Amino acid sequence: GVSAEPTSGKYCGSLKAQNLSFERARVRKDSSTKKLINDAIMNNDFLKKLEPQHMREMVDCMYEKVYTEGQLVIQEGEPGNYLYVLADGLLEVIQNGKLLGQMRPGTAFGELAILYNCKRTASVKAVSQSLIWALDRQMFQSIMMRTTQARHQEYFSFLCSVSLLKDLPEEKLAKIVDCLEVDYFDKGEYIIREGEEGNTFFIIAKGMTTEGSLEPQEIKTLGVGDYFGEKALISEDVRSANIISKENDTQCLVVDRDNFNQMVGTYEELQAYLKEYVEQLSRSDEQRNAMPQSP
Ligand code: CMP
Repeated sequence: GVSAEPTSGKYCGSLKAQNLSFERARVRKDSSTKKLINDAIMNNDFLKKLEPQHMREMVDCMYEKVYTEGQLVIQEGEPGNYLYVLADGLLEVIQNGKLLGQMRPGTAFGELAILYNCKRTASVKAVSQSLIWALDRQMFQSIMMRTTQARHQEYFSFLCSVSLLKDLPEEKLAKIVDCLEVDYFDKGEYIIREGEEGNTFFIIAKGMTTEGSLEPQEIKTLGVGDYFGEKALISEDVRSANIISKENDTQCLVVDRDNFNQMVGTYEELQAYLKEYVEQLSRSDEQRNAMPQSP
């Protein structure tokens, strides 16, 4: 019969797979998609034991597949080459011709063969057209192999170069690294809208953005190492300007206030630090403005 999963995928050959750059393998997703995938992983008894960093990489590297009504996603007894998360549609699980149950959006599946290197324990079939996020085995394995330390170090050194953060104690920086997420934006895309409520803070890791008030007035251009949205970590203020991506694939490290609260647990300290930093900035602005202008 026709196999549900291609066995000679594009990442065939382990050497090639290990050399695959994560940056290239990442697929942009909006935050609701990331949340759906992440929640699905967290709700799976086997996957929820993985490290948060590994989960994040998995979420980033999953790509979209569409299955039509009646199509087999997984064939029982075959080797497993993908791990999946159902985003939209309806699936049924069949074992030895017997219906075991149905799967609804927000479910991760196909984890058993990937985690335990066994044959598929059941078949999975699309009851209606279904949108599914997939991660191939090779990518899963390289994510697991890539040491948590390497990624941590990479972001840590980057954060040390960000003016806002560079004076923070090392252990605080390390904790911020733990609660970072990476988000991607296309040219012309609004990262922040003036007047909206916000609870995230952004640091540009790649690309450029424009800061502007009433469109199309541009206030300034921000680049790698610059940050914005920091006021959201200090107060409940609405966004004071628009921030628009100037390039395709602008990458931002995102710190979420709630995440930060939960994982770092020293929100007040950071808040105090940021407040002081912002005050310092405005003091130096005042000083600059008070200086005699050159003719
Ligand atoms: P895997 O064995 O890789 O491929 C088939 C998948 O179906 C399996 O991983 C699980 O994700 C899922 N599965 C297996 N048994 C059941 C069950 N009894 N109920 C729901 N899902 C199942």
